Amino acid sequence: MGQKGKEISKLDHKWLLNELSKAYAFEWVVHYHASLAANIVSGLATPVYAEIFKKASEGELKHANRIAKRIAELGGEPPATMAEIEKLAGFGKVKFPAKRSDTSGFVKVFLEMERHAIALYNDLANKTHGKDLVTHELAEDLLSEEVAEEEEYENLLRE
Ligand SMILES: [Fe+2]
Repeated sequence: MGQKGKEISKLDHKWLLNELSKAYAFEWVVHYHASLAANIVSGLATPVYAEIFKKASEGELKHANRIAKRIAELGGEPPATMAEIEKLAGFGKVKFPAKRSDTSGFVKVFLEMERHAIALYNDLANKTHGKDLVTHELAEDLLSEEVAEEEEYENLLRE
């Protein structure tokens, strides 16, 4: 990060980089699982749900990339291995429904992930408020997207 960019961030960089790495890792976990779900969901509604999960997967990768950019600006590096990503994400084992045609079972898994992301970005937005405006804006932006996605999943469950 440039000199002025550093001056205006009033947060412990080590702490902030760790928080961003956790978010980056979690986005990758969601990205991977949404991609996997798109590939394994089956049954009559397959095309519809495969498309929903594929889009979600792409969206989460975009989130991960935006966080990676911020990590780089702050002089850090995202986690180097998948093992580290899994550990940093701190979400535990993701369990998909045994029946691959259980679309609402899949949706429930992603709904839980959205709620995890909402808590994460809400926390990051609060802690960076007035201290690191660039990260704050990123956290707010991602938060609003996760909130919208949560609602979309909730609506799917109502159908
Ligand atoms: Fe996300």
